Amino acid sequence: MSEGAAKKEEKPRKFQAIRGTRDLLPPETALWNRVEQTAHQVFATFGFGEIRPPIFEPTDLFARAVGGETDIVSKEMYTFSNPTSLAAIVSEDRVEGFLGDMLPEAEKISLRPEATASVCRAYIEHNMQQLPQPVKLYYMGPMFRRERPQKGRYRQFYQIGAEVLGGSDAPAIDAEVIEMVMTFFDRLELQGVQLDINSIGCRECRPKYVELLRAELQKVKDKLGADSQRRIETNPLRVLDSKLESEQSIIAKLPRIADHLCEDCATHYAAVKHQLEMRGVIYRENWRLVRGLDYYMRTTFEITAQGLGSQNAVCGGGRYDGLVELLGGPPTKGIGFAIGEDRLILSLEESGKAPAPKGRDVYIAWMGEKARATAIRAAKDLRKAGFSVELPPVEQKFGKALGQADKLGARFALILGDNEVSEGLWTLKTLADGSQAKFTEPDLLEHLRKQKALSP
Ligand code: HAM
Repeated sequence: MSEGAAKKEEKPRKFQAIRGTRDLLPPETALWNRVEQTAHQVFATFGFGEIRPPIFEPTDLFARAVGGETDIVSKEMYTFSNPTSLAAIVSEDRVEGFLGDMLPEAEKISLRPEATASVCRAYIEHNMQQLPQPVKLYYMGPMFRRERPQKGRYRQFYQIGAEVLGGSDAPAIDAEVIEMVMTFFDRLELQGVQLDINSIGCRECRPKYVELLRAELQKVKDKLGADSQRRIETNPLRVLDSKLESEQSIIAKLPRIADHLCEDCATHYAAVKHQLEMRGVIYRENWRLVRGLDYYMRTTFEITAQGLGSQNAVCGGGRYDGLVELLGGPPTKGIGFAIGEDRLILSLEESGKAPAPKGRDVYIAWMGEKARATAIRAAKDLRKAGFSVELPPVEQKFGKALGQADKLGARFALILGDNEVSEGLWTLKTLADGSQAKFTEPDLLEHLRKQKALSP
């Protein structure tokens, strides 16, 4: 085959979204927008303001905050060399291919796997401890974790989260943060919502409990699976998280943290539960609820919802006093949560809460040069009044235009021909029943306004 022929046959590569990422498309994006609007509204009523941190940060920030040994940091981050330091090294004539490996950890940057670390970094960087405390912030946006993709688990996923930083660690703050998520879910009519809470103690009592747990796990080591056996050494608390059927009866007999909290933690936990009750928030205590991030202490919680299969946690959060300090800031109390927006949307869709796809309000079927000018003006006025309008770019026969209006799910077709324009009476066709009526321009707007107010 000649070179020319080979070139001809070569088809351009068809690109696809990278595994674990996906396009969010209409009409589904309308539901995403509704969810985000509701979050803006509900969170504002609790006095939260929005923060938009960057999508990448120094790798070290996440390693220190989330924990270098956690799955998130040790296996799942998308990490790159920082281009500015790269430029500096390239100028020293080093070989490009080795640069990534040669860079010291401190020079690396990662796509954020979560945003609590970023919010704490921002709190310190902008001296927010000088603002009235506590500072209440929320965020929404994409996060990145290299996990095995499946239903409800993506490599680029979206979180809606909130953090309360500074001030006291009053149990009422824990309860109000939880009340806020539950109010948000309630407003969205999320189905099958189940709130689990726990206290995982503090720097005083948790290490003692972990040692006790480790000792007890050593006694039953032979009966545990390989993962749990490994975790006896690395992080015994994570054994409680195990879903392995064969381990369940063993785990049920292990010592429970609630029985080993220090007095302060026990008092705090009891008060959080009381505060939740005062707010009418229904919860379930789950002593096996340990979270996969290192920064937590005392209150931890998770919320599950209907229709999500094995990835059913739609929100996770907890208290993290000391994290700001760990990141070089002043001693600061902190608590927050993050909602998995993809899962929230999935659950809403599964329970039929997705809004029906919305068609256009008005399709303008115009014919003739005079009508074109009128159609352009009508479209402008109708859009200004808030109607969704489709204005075909080229002239169409009325039959074709009406067919097109139907396909787009338009409610009305505004028919503008030479007659309509010279008479100043426009024809409006209701597509559902085929009825037609003539209106002057101001009457038409009024009529459409009334119809919109009546529509579901
Ligand atoms: P997290 O439990 O790692 O906590 O994530 C919170 C939520 O994000 C999960 O419950 C889940 O709904 C969603 N999520 C996590 N990974 C994925 C994924 N691969 N695909 C889809 N959804 C996912 C945090 O991120 C903490 N920063 C929460 C927090 C804020 N704690 C205190 N403040």
